Amino acid sequence: MSNTFHNFIGGSWVPARSGTSIVNRNPATGEALGEFPESDAADVDAAIAAARSAQRAWRLTPAPKRAELLFRLAALIAARKEELAHAATREMGKILIETRGDVQEGVDMAYLAAGEGRRMYGVTTPSEMPDKWAMSVRMPVGVVGVITAWNFPFAVPTWKIFPALVAGNTVVFKPSELAPETGTNLARLVEQAGVPPGVFNLVHGHGAGSGAALVQHPGVDLISFTGSNAVGTWIAEECARRGKRVSLEMGGKNAVIVMADADLGLAADALAWSAFGTTGQRCTAASRAIVHESVHDALLTLVVQRAKALRIGDGLDPATEMGPVVSEQQLDRVHGYVTVGAAEGARVAAGGGRALDGALAHGSFYQPTVLAGVRPDMRVAQEEIFGPVLSFLRVNSLDEAIEVNNRVGFGLSSSIFTTDVNAAFRAMRDLDTGIVYVNHGTTGAETHLPFGGNRGTGNGHREAGHTMLDPFTEWRSIYVDFSGRLQRAQIDNS
Ligand code: UN1
Repeated sequence: MSNTFHNFIGGSWVPARSGTSIVNRNPATGEALGEFPESDAADVDAAIAAARSAQRAWRLTPAPKRAELLFRLAALIAARKEELAHAATREMGKILIETRGDVQEGVDMAYLAAGEGRRMYGVTTPSEMPDKWAMSVRMPVGVVGVITAWNFPFAVPTWKIFPALVAGNTVVFKPSELAPETGTNLARLVEQAGVPPGVFNLVHGHGAGSGAALVQHPGVDLISFTGSNAVGTWIAEECARRGKRVSLEMGGKNAVIVMADADLGLAADALAWSAFGTTGQRCTAASRAIVHESVHDALLTLVVQRAKALRIGDGLDPATEMGPVVSEQQLDRVHGYVTVGAAEGARVAAGGGRALDGALAHGSFYQPTVLAGVRPDMRVAQEEIFGPVLSFLRVNSLDEAIEVNNRVGFGLSSSIFTTDVNAAFRAMRDLDTGIVYVNHGTTGAETHLPFGGNRGTGNGHREAGHTMLDPFTEWRSIYVDFSGRLQRAQIDNS
């Protein structure tokens, strides 16, 4: 194959030592796009060695200087936005306006992280002793392993890599094997921006191969992961055993609550966008509509109309409104959930199967699907589906809506449509998710606010926002005694 890609280790583009490769395919057409190194522990070892040897010089480079490279990188990304968006759509399927947004989120993140180079504030506080200085400063963690999913192949890696770099860490990045070209494009831009060799390294491969090797390697100080709860839980266990830092973002079971006084047209538009945008493959996607009984049937009709009207197709075609599911395996999983839902008593009100018309037969397309009559205890109302499937649940009150929203194992994003300010404020206080929207769907977080969630969604960290440095730094408290004598805290000043 002519499109052969490599790992990026210590500033050089190199094949996998094993010589084996992975082919990535366009999910809209089945076409093979490129061959990527199927890396193993030996490649990961080399990347970590490069990251370790670059660590000291990078840590000692002043943060504003590290940040200058990120400012340069932001401009480089912005200049190539269109090309990057096309490559991402080709390999993971979402429509062009969305891959442009994905790249834009990377530009925003680069500027935001670069700004930290001249902030990265510490804290000074008076000492309890005379002639003594006390302060806390952020220090880099060391070598950071970054493992990400395919659905935001550009933006999500930047949430991790850019704060890690500006804070003085070096990085080994393993992108998803379903979006390896976008990972490669990001690495090329980092190289072009002038980031020194070894500071940033790219290792392709499968989760079970290079991903696991990165998690288990003693030379990695921190793993930052976005993906499924099952994989994240395994990573947390492996890291705990080795005393490693770990930061996890692991999906959602997000809901839009629609109250009786809501603008139903707006709520229907927001539901269709949140549920079927990115073909439902966002960790923030709405997979539940929790609707007051007085407007339930009217809203269901509006959403079903929108679902049936969506133009499905190749994301590169500007007329397309919803692209394919990323792979056949993922499509089988999504359809499996629809089958389970029907068996549990849900009614398929729209979609419910593959989309096979004409050229769609060559790709992994699934119809936008609406399930009605779903109850909170059903599997389709509890488990993350990660596809274009929206379940309607009927409730009688705000209290019940909030209770149903919160009674799931995830806590990423939630939303309420209401014109009642009291209801809105109660929801903002009581919805148990890391992100809450009022009169807006569940997707579309902005980079300068913390991103992440509660319960099965995360392990207490937030990415981006003013919290972006927290996972990638350790606080160091420093005391300087300039009294010239022995001063004993808690003893001599009592
Ligand atoms: C994801 O699906 O992993 O808020 C990230 C949003 C996007 C990010 C989604 N800005 O929907």
